Amino acid sequence: CSYLQEKDRKTVCDVLVNGLARQEYRGYDSAGIGIDGDKKGEMLFFKEVGKVAGLRKKIAESSVDMSKTFLSQVSIAHTRWATHGPPSVVNCHPLKSDANAEFTVVHNGIVTNAAALRLLLQKRGFRFESDTDTEAVAILCKYIYDSQPDKRLSFTELVKTVLKELEGSFAFVFKSSHYPNEAVTARRGSPLLIGVKTERKLKVDFVDVEFPELGAGKETEKPIDALAVPTSPGGLLAPPSQNNLMRTQSRAFMSEDGMPQPIEFFVASDASAIIEHTKRVLYLEDDDIAHIAEGELHIHRLRRTDGPPVSSVRTIETLEIELAEIMKGKFDHFMQKEIYEQPESVVNTMRGRVNFDQHVITLGGLRQYLNIIRRGRRIIFCACGTSYHSAIATRAIFEELTEIPVTVELASDFLDRKTPIFRDDVCVFVSQSGETADTILAMRYCLERGALCVGVVNTVGSTISRESHCGVHINAGPEIGVASTKAYTSQYIALIMVALQLSEDRISMMERRKQIIDGLHALPSQIKRVLEGDRSLQELATGVLSNQRSLLIMGRGYQFATCLEGALKIKEISYMHSEGILAGELKHGPLALIDENMPVIFVMTQDSLYPKVQSAFSQITARKAQPIVVCNENDEDIPKGVKTIRVPKTVDCLQGLLNIIPLQLLSYHLAVKNGFDVDFPRNLAKSVTTE
Ligand code: G6P
Repeated sequence: CSYLQEKDRKTVCDVLVNGLARQEYRGYDSAGIGIDGDKKGEMLFFKEVGKVAGLRKKIAESSVDMSKTFLSQVSIAHTRWATHGPPSVVNCHPLKSDANAEFTVVHNGIVTNAAALRLLLQKRGFRFESDTDTEAVAILCKYIYDSQPDKRLSFTELVKTVLKELEGSFAFVFKSSHYPNEAVTARRGSPLLIGVKTERKLKVDFVDVEFPELGAGKETEKPIDALAVPTSPGGLLAPPSQNNLMRTQSRAFMSEDGMPQPIEFFVASDASAIIEHTKRVLYLEDDDIAHIAEGELHIHRLRRTDGPPVSSVRTIETLEIELAEIMKGKFDHFMQKEIYEQPESVVNTMRGRVNFDQHVITLGGLRQYLNIIRRGRRIIFCACGTSYHSAIATRAIFEELTEIPVTVELASDFLDRKTPIFRDDVCVFVSQSGETADTILAMRYCLERGALCVGVVNTVGSTISRESHCGVHINAGPEIGVASTKAYTSQYIALIMVALQLSEDRISMMERRKQIIDGLHALPSQIKRVLEGDRSLQELATGVLSNQRSLLIMGRGYQFATCLEGALKIKEISYMHSEGILAGELKHGPLALIDENMPVIFVMTQDSLYPKVQSAFSQITARKAQPIVVCNENDEDIPKGVKTIRVPKTVDCLQGLLNIIPLQLLSYHLAVKNGFDVDFPRNLAKSVTTE
């Protein structure tokens, strides 16, 4: 949204499309934009299936007059990852209420009662073009707008009325021909932030949000049929009272002298989309409704009393992230860049937190909670995907150092089972994005039950980092490639640091802690050494492993997580079937898969389980397998003639940090060799913000 500054249509399109390109990792089935047309209130749309580059081309080839200028304008854009309906132009956002686009909406998340809304609106004569849940929301706007006899509702009031009918999770931006140059944006469950760009000095840089009067109680559930146009005041369409809609106390974004001045607002689900325009950002909370009009921003609250307590202040923060950090640099793909960044990203995770001389760890974000955690009766790690693997990788050292039982849970399964949780449980939520829906829901489940919730996240300002009681930012920097690499190694280190700090008073652990901290010190240079072996991994990918249909990765103990994570990397981006197998389970099934044709990677670095791994190795070679072995540089026991991937030796509990890197590189080269889209694998999204 820009006010009082001349912009031509081309500039507007470029801002939108560049922003989409930076958010593409969130979803990339299709992309679309909606911009102001030539007449007041009119809109123009460009939509394309596939990646943002396709949309950019479509816009460049259009005959629309790109030189037309606007003094103030509001435009919206979206990149989609399908939840309702296949990727297609009709399902692509922005979605509109009718042919004239009286209401236009972009949406992240899922409206779970969309089918019922759709049916209801169809009964009232509305026609749907798409299969999406979002279209039902656009049409609902029009239905409610048309139903008010005197058209008195403000845009915010109208959106509030719509939101009250919706179930599920969302981040929305609404635009309407009835409210030109205005936008309303709202969130519940999906991330949303607003960037503010202006030369002028703002009167205040925070917004006080008023809360409903106490005792207002939970709103009564309305049956869906209550959508019928009310005949008496007080029904659904009655104009909201002053108290009903909570207004900001201050006109927060007026300039000091009160004069209108040029200003721009950027609404996005992620800071990467707007960072090139402004670093001044305000994060919205669940149930916030933000209204942007006439160069001002106002934040309102939906009245809800059943959610977690929410701060009544929204502050504009200044982000420290640099655009260069999210660009590809000299690398061909973001994933490759992120793999190569690991010598630095692990340092960033430890920076200011590890005193290598005195063997002391200081995690500021946990300081006041350390004793509560130590007194906890168990620790539950909860995560999805790669983050889950980082929890598996560190579980054993956590138990060893803290002597507290640790369980590791996949967030979706944890929720499915409605696991019993108690006040003396400590629940650790590991997430790169801090926005994974399953992990957030699991955290809220634990918050409600009074457990201490600790976040281990990469994205500052994300939902998990804000809603958890305490936590650790892993500081790995933005990760764009869908296949997580540097976040894994940083999560792994962050969890080890937590275990080290928790055990700082244990005399019996002093030597062990010292050994691990020394091991952490040597890691960055050891990671560099592993990366030097990249060429031979590329040769494996283009040689013996090329054209294989399947690949088994085996190991045990600390290396089980390496096997799971390596196999996940390979299936995610090279689409080759791959399975991580616990070598201890070999005899209970997987051995049946072994013959001379089955490719196997065997993770066999030296730790206390080495003899057991050697015996598993013999079991598979006796069945004619020809494994490629991940082993330590100086290991003389590997039989002659066996293909090896050699890595430096480190402390047992850190060895997985080095062992995973060849597997990351291997998966990368397998995908490149097959011509696959490394950074944007089919059907996957970086941040899964729907259940
Ligand atoms: C998606 C991504 C994975 C990631 C997982 C958990 O599936 O494709 O790379 O590991 O979500 O994401 P989180 O942001 O919670 O770590």
